[in-house]
Amino acid sequence: MSQEQQDDPHYKKHVTELGDTRDIVASHDIYSQNGIKLLSAGARINSTMYERIICHKLNAPLEQSLSISNPVSSSDLSELAQRILHEHPLFERVHRTLPENFSLAEAVGKVQLNAPLGFKLAVARDRMEEMFSHGVETALICGFLGHQIGLDTQQSIQLVTAGIFHDLGELHIEPELLGRRDSLSMSERKHIYAHPLTIFLILQEFPDLYHPMVSTAVLEHHERLDGSGYPSGINQKKLGRLGRLLAVAEVVSSLYRSGADAEPSRIRIMLKLNMHHQLDAAAIGHILSVLESDKEEAAAKSVGIGKLQGIVQKMAEQFSAWDRDYQYQMQGCTDSKRLIFLNERINMLKCALEDAGLNFNRTEMIAEMFCDDTLEALELQGLAQEFVSKVRDIEHELKRRWPSLDQPSIDTGDEFIRSWIKRALKLTAS
Ligand SMILES: [Fe+2]
Ligand SMILES: [Fe+2]
Repeated sequence: MSQEQQDDPHYKKHVTELGDTRDIVASHDIYSQNGIKLLSAGARINSTMYERIICHKLNAPLEQSLSISNPVSSSDLSELAQRILHEHPLFERVHRTLPENFSLAEAVGKVQLNAPLGFKLAVARDRMEEMFSHGVETALICGFLGHQIGLDTQQSIQLVTAGIFHDLGELHIEPELLGRRDSLSMSERKHIYAHPLTIFLILQEFPDLYHPMVSTAVLEHHERLDGSGYPSGINQKKLGRLGRLLAVAEVVSSLYRSGADAEPSRIRIMLKLNMHHQLDAAAIGHILSVLESDKEEAAAKSVGIGKLQGIVQKMAEQFSAWDRDYQYQMQGCTDSKRLIFLNERINMLKCALEDAGLNFNRTEMIAEMFCDDTLEALELQGLAQEFVSKVRDIEHELKRRWPSLDQPSIDTGDEFIRSWIKRALKLTAS
C-alpha cells in the first residue's frame, strides 16, 4: 500500500515535468519492482520519461532515487518565514506577542531536512507554491504555540517540522480535485482524506529524524477532539499532543489564507466555536489572545442587524425543527444509527454556538444587545457563516461513515437527514 500511494501518477507527473525546467538526475540506477532497469545513474529526468515511468511500480520512492539542483534547505525555509512575518499582519501580530530574544524565523530554520524531504519540498515549492507557503505559515504558528505552551526544544522543532510537511501528501492527489475541493463527490473526496496518511507513510521511512513524533502529528492534522476528523476519526483519548497543536496551527493558517475569510473577527469566531469540542482549548486561548478585539477593523464594517437577527432566527428554527421531528423519525426508520449520530452532532453544534455567544431562546434581543457594538455584531455574523460551514462538515462526516447516504434510498430516516441538511446549508444564502 505504501509504495502504491507514493508512486501514483500525479506525483510522477509533477516530478517529470519539473525536470523540464530544473536539473533532476537519477542518483543511482532506478529499477521497477520486478527488476527492470528503467534509468541509469546520472540520467536526466524530463517529461518525455513520464510514459515509461508510469508503466512500472518503482522499487523505491522517487525522492529516494533522484536529486535536484536546488533542493529546499533549512535556510530557504527560514528566509521565507522571515518574509511572511514582515508581509502578513496576522504573523506580524503573532511575532510581536513573543519575547524579543525569540525569533520565529530562526525556529523554522532549525527544521532538519534530509535529501528525500528536501527534494519533495522542492517539488512542492515549484509545482504547488500555495501549499508550500501554507506549510511555512503553519510552521510559524506551530513555533508560536510551542513557545507559549512551553514545549521543550526537541518537541518544538518536531512540531515546526510537522507544520512544514503536513500537506505534502497533496502532491499525490490529482490537481484538478484540489482545485474544486468544495464540489467533490464522496469517491473523489476519498483522495483528499488520504493525504495525511500518504505523507505519514513517507515520513515513517526515517525513524532517526521524523518517525514517530513528526509523522504521527502530520497523520493527525485533520483529526478532531470529538472524533469528527479524518482519516481515522480518532478522538481526544488517542490524539497526541503535537497532533492537537498542529491541528490548531493548520486551522489558523488555512483561515488566514482563505481570502475573504481572513479577517481576525472570522478567525476568532471559528476558534471560539471549536474551543470545547474539536480543537485544543489551551492552544486556541493563545491564538485568541493575539487576535484581541480590533476596534478599527470593526469600525470599518457595517452590519445589518435586522438581517443578522433573521439569520439567527432561522438557525433557531432549524434546531427546533430537528428536535420536533427526531423522535417521530426514529420510530419509522429501518436503521437508527445515522439518526442517533446526527442528533448527537446537531446538539453539539447547538451547544458550541451557545457557548460562543448565541441565545436561540432570545433571538429578538440581538438588535437591542448589539446595535451599538459593531464588533460583537460582526462576531455574530461570523457565527452564522460558521453554522453553514459546520453543517457541511457534519454532512461530510456522515457520508464518510455511511457512504450509502450519497445514493437515493427509500429509508424515511435518510430522507429526513438529507432534507434537514439541505435546508440548513441554504441558511445564510436566503
Ligand atoms: Fe493544511
Ligand atoms: Fe491537510
